[in-house]
Parts: sequence; structure tokens; C-alpha cells
Amino acid sequence: MRELSLHILDIVENSINARAKLIYIKVYERKKQDELIIYIEDNGCGMDSDFVQKVLDPFVTTRTTRKVGLGIPLFKAAAERCEGNFNIESELGKGTRVTAKFRLSHIDRAPFGDLPGTLTVLFTANPKTDFKYKHTTDDGTYEINTKEIKMVLEDVKISNPLVADWIKNNIVEGLISINGGGE
Ligand SMILES: Nc1ncnc2c1ncn2[C@@H]1O[C@H](COP(=O)(O)OP(=O)(O)OP(=O)(O)O)[C@@H](O)[C@H]1O
Ligand SMILES: [Mg+2]
Repeated sequence: MRELSLHILDIVENSINARAKLIYIKVYERKKQDELIIYIEDNGCGMDSDFVQKVLDPFVTTRTTRKVGLGIPLFKAAAERCEGNFNIESELGKGTRVTAKFRLSHIDRAPFGDLPGTLTVLFTANPKTDFKYKHTTDDGTYEINTKEIKMVLEDVKISNPLVADWIKNNIVEGLISINGGGE
């Protein structure tokens, strides 16, 4: 079972490759509704609807048009295994939104894994991209916006190890405070 943080890493890497300047990562963990929803939205190059269909099912496409990628099909399969669903909305030149919904308590629902560590790597290794991460549970919401952090840092780089440590701890403590992202 692939941890959810690794699926998120794959999908966000797609957004970075699509030259997104701003990426939203939103997680909704709702125990009462027994659902987990992960949204990843970017303002990158987007895809037309034919291409979205091909990407969702790489095995129907001819191999000559593109290399066979598995990031999206694997995430889709993970959601569908858990009585959930998966959707891509995309527009050429505008951006893409990927939505994966899971039944939170489903036996096959993978754990989050190291969400703080994964997000910290994404935020600090891609200084030219802004990230807005929002995680909501029944107990509250945690949010972090790298654009605000970069403004406060001025000349200090977001990749500075002290900054990276601070970001990771902020996420760890934020998630603890809302009982989110755990297993
Ligand atoms: N956010 C996005 N914006 C624009 N194009 C995208 C986006 N996400 C995916 N794509 C397109 O869909 C293709 C398939 O994505 P997918 O993650 O399934 O495979 P991949 O990235 O090609 O390979 P990998 O297996 O390494 O992830 C990408 O190569 C890219 O062309
Ligand atoms: Mg990919």
C-alpha cells in the first residue's frame, strides 16, 4: 500500500513539471462523514480533455504519444479501492485540479505516511513555486502559505535548513493540534 503522502508527492510533482506558480494542497478528514478528500490544484499548463482521458487510463493509449506514466492511475486506483472516487478537471493554459476521495475508515485506505516531511521537501526544494496547504478535520483547520513565509524571510532562502526545520515542526504541531494526518 502506497502511503498517501507519496501519492501527494507524485501529483504535486506533476504540477511543478507543468510549471505551476501556485499549488493548493487541501486535505479534508471528516470522521463524522467517514470521508477523506485530497485536492491538488495548480495554475500550470493544463491538459485538454482528450489528454485527461488518456492520462486516467494509460493502458488504452498508444505508447508512441507519450511515455506511460503511473502517478495518476495509481492514485485513482487507491481512491477507488476505498469506496471513493477520483476526478481531474483541467483546462489548457489555466491549470488542473485533481480530487481524490476515500472512505476514511476503509480497511484498504493507506496511512498518510510522513506528510510533514514530504510537504517540507516540496516547499523547500521548489522555491519559485508558492504552496498553500490547508488541512481540515472535525477539530479544526491548519494552514500554511509559503508565500507569506518567503516574505518574512526576505533574503534568507526557504531551503535554509533552519527554515526547513521550522516548517516541518510547524506542520507536525499544526496537525497534532487538529488531530489530523495521523494513524
Ligand atoms: N497538473 C498537471 N498539469 C499538466 N499536465 C499534467 C498534470 N498532471 C499530469 N499531467 C500530464 O499527465 C501525464 C501523466 O501523469 P502521471 O503522473 O500519471 O505520469 P508521469 O508524470 O508522466 O510519470 P510518473 O509515473 O513519473 O508520474 C504527465 O506526463 C503530464 O503530461
Ligand atoms: Mg507524475
